[in-house]
Amino acid sequence: MKTLVTSALPYVNNVPHLGNLMCVISADVYTRFLRLKNQEVISVLGTDEHGTTTETKAIEEGLTPKEVCDKYYKIHKEIYDWFECEFDCFGRTSSKENAEITLDIFNKLHKNGYITEGIIEQLYCEKDKRFLADRFVEGTCPKCSYENARGDQCENCGSLLNATELVNPKCKICKSKPIVKQSNHLFIDLPKLEPELKTWISSVESKWSDNARTLTHAWFKEGLKQRCITRDLKWGIQVPLKGFENKVFYSWFDAPIGYIGITKECRKDWKDYWLNPKEIKLVQFMGKDNIPFHTILFPAFLIGTKDNYTLMREISVNEFLNYENGQFSKSRNLGVFGDDAKSTGISADVFRYYLMINRPEKQDTEFLWSDFQKKNNTELVANLGNLVNRTLSFLNRFYDSTIPDIDLNAKDEEFLAEVKKLETKISELADSISIKEALKEIMRIATIGNRYLQENEPWKNPDEKRKSTCLNVLANVVKDLSILIFPYMPGVSARMQMQLNIGQKKWDDLGNLSIKKNHKINTAEILFRKIEDEEITSLQKEFSGKKKENFADVDLKTAKIISVDDHPNAESLYVLKVECNGERQLVAGLKKYYTKEELLGKNIVIVANLKP
Ligand code: MF3
Ligand code: ZN
Repeated sequence: MKTLVTSALPYVNNVPHLGNLMCVISADVYTRFLRLKNQEVISVLGTDEHGTTTETKAIEEGLTPKEVCDKYYKIHKEIYDWFECEFDCFGRTSSKENAEITLDIFNKLHKNGYITEGIIEQLYCEKDKRFLADRFVEGTCPKCSYENARGDQCENCGSLLNATELVNPKCKICKSKPIVKQSNHLFIDLPKLEPELKTWISSVESKWSDNARTLTHAWFKEGLKQRCITRDLKWGIQVPLKGFENKVFYSWFDAPIGYIGITKECRKDWKDYWLNPKEIKLVQFMGKDNIPFHTILFPAFLIGTKDNYTLMREISVNEFLNYENGQFSKSRNLGVFGDDAKSTGISADVFRYYLMINRPEKQDTEFLWSDFQKKNNTELVANLGNLVNRTLSFLNRFYDSTIPDIDLNAKDEEFLAEVKKLETKISELADSISIKEALKEIMRIATIGNRYLQENEPWKNPDEKRKSTCLNVLANVVKDLSILIFPYMPGVSARMQMQLNIGQKKWDDLGNLSIKKNHKINTAEILFRKIEDEEITSLQKEFSGKKKENFADVDLKTAKIISVDDHPNAESLYVLKVECNGERQLVAGLKKYYTKEELLGKNIVIVANLKP
C-alpha cells in the first residue's frame, strides 16, 4: 500500500501566515514519518490560483491575473522551502494539466447526467461589461443603512447579504450603478449522487477526525442541494459548453481537482496514484473551513465520472491558530507571515517545533510570543538541547570522543525499556496522525534521559563502569531522539547525527544499542539558543500591527570605535564602545565581516536614536 498525502492548496494571492502554514507543515511532518518508516509515499502541494480574489488582487496591483499568480507562486514556493517543507509535487491549479483533467471530469459528469442548468440573478455592470462578483459591489446595507456594505456581507451590522439586496449598489471598479441581469449557470446534482456518496462515506469515516465527521453529517441532515460550479468571470478554466462561452468554472471546482493536475504536472506515473484506489491510501490535510469540499464535493466530482478514482481515506483537520488573541492580518502588519519569519533570526526548525507542539487539533490555539520564548527555553534549550549537549560533551571530554564500554545493570535495562515503550507509543500516534501528542512523547524521552543522566552523575561518579555505561546508553538514546525528531526538525536531526558521526538513520534503527564501543563521535555543538526577554519584546513589537518607523525619523551621527569585545552569549555579535558626544555601547553583527583590529579606531555612522 502506498500513501498519497495532500495539503489544502493555499490561495495564491496572499502571503501565507503561520496559521496557514499549520496545515502544510503538518502534512510535511506526516510524510516524513512515513519516509522514516520506509513506506512509499508522495506528497502534493501547490497554489490555488483561479477566481475573484485573484482578479481583485490583479486590479489592486495593476497586474494581469496571470502576472499576480506568477509573482505570488514564487513567494509561496520560497516560503515553503524556507520552512523545510519538502513536497514531491509542487504545482499550480492554472496549469494546462489541471485544465485537461478538470475538463475531462466535467465532460464525464455531464455525459453521466450529473450536471444541471439553472438561472441566477446577478448584478451586471453595463460599462465594464461584466457580472459583478460579490466583492466587486458596494452599496447601502438594507438592514442598518451602513453605506459601504460589501456584496456578501455588511461589516457594520454583520448581516450576510445577497448582492442584489443592496440599496444603491455601485460597481467597485467604475462606480456606476449595475443592473440586475439573469445569468445561466451549471450545477452539480448532489442529490442524485447522494446514495453513492453515503456508501463511500460509511466505508471510510471511522478513520476521520471528529470535526470532519460531524460537519459532513450535518450537511446530509440538511439535505444535499444543487451546487453552482460556474462563475461569470474571466480568470479560470473556460466552460466547454455552448451558451457558456463567457463563463469559467468556480475555483472550488478546479482547485481540489488541482491535486490531480499538480501530480500530473510533476509525474508521468500520476495515474498509478489517482486511478488506483486499491493500492493507494489518500490522506488529506486541511483547515476546518475546507471540510465539506473534501468530504462531499470533491468526492462527488470524482464518483460522478464513474472512472476508478482514488478517494480520500483519512483526513486530518486542524482548527485555527490565532495571533496574540486576535487574527493575523497582513494589511495591518499583525502577526508573523511566511516572508518575514526569516528576519526574526529564529530558525525554521524552532518555528516548526512551536507550531506542532501548539497544533490546534481539537480547538483553536494561540501563537503567543511569551509562550514561544518559554517553550524554546524550557523544552528545546533546557530539556532536549541540554541532554544532547551534555552527553556529547562528556564523551568528548572524558573519553576523547570515543564511545566507552557498556555493562548494563537492572536500572539501565529499566530505563531502556521505558524508552522503548515510549517509542512504540510514538509510532502508533504518528500512524494515527496525532502529530502533537507524538511530539510530546518524544520530549518525554528527553526528560527521562535527563533524569537518568542526573542519577548517574557521570561528571563525578567514581565508579568507572557506571560512568561509561551511562554515557554509552545515552549516546544511543540521543541517536534515537535524532531519528524521532526528524519529521519535526529535520535540520536539528541532521546536526545531531553529524555530531554523533552517524549517517542518516531510519525508524528501524530505533531502540537498539547500535552505537558501539570505540565509535568516534564529533565535537558537541549547541543545538538551540536561549531567547532573551529583550529579543521577545522587540519581536512582539515588530509584529504588533504598529506602524513601522519612518526613515526620515532616523538620526544619523558619526562616532569613533574605542573598544571591541566578543558578545558573551551570541556567536556573531561584537559589543562596541563608541565615542559620540559621550560614550555609548552598541551591539553589532559584524563578526563575520571584520576583525577586532580592523574595527578599532574606525569612524563610523550610527543610528543615534534607536531605543536600546
Ligand atoms: N485555497 C483554499 C483555502 O486556502 C483551499 C483549497 S483546497 C483544494 O482555503 F482542495 F481546493 F485545493
Ligand atoms: Zn463598473
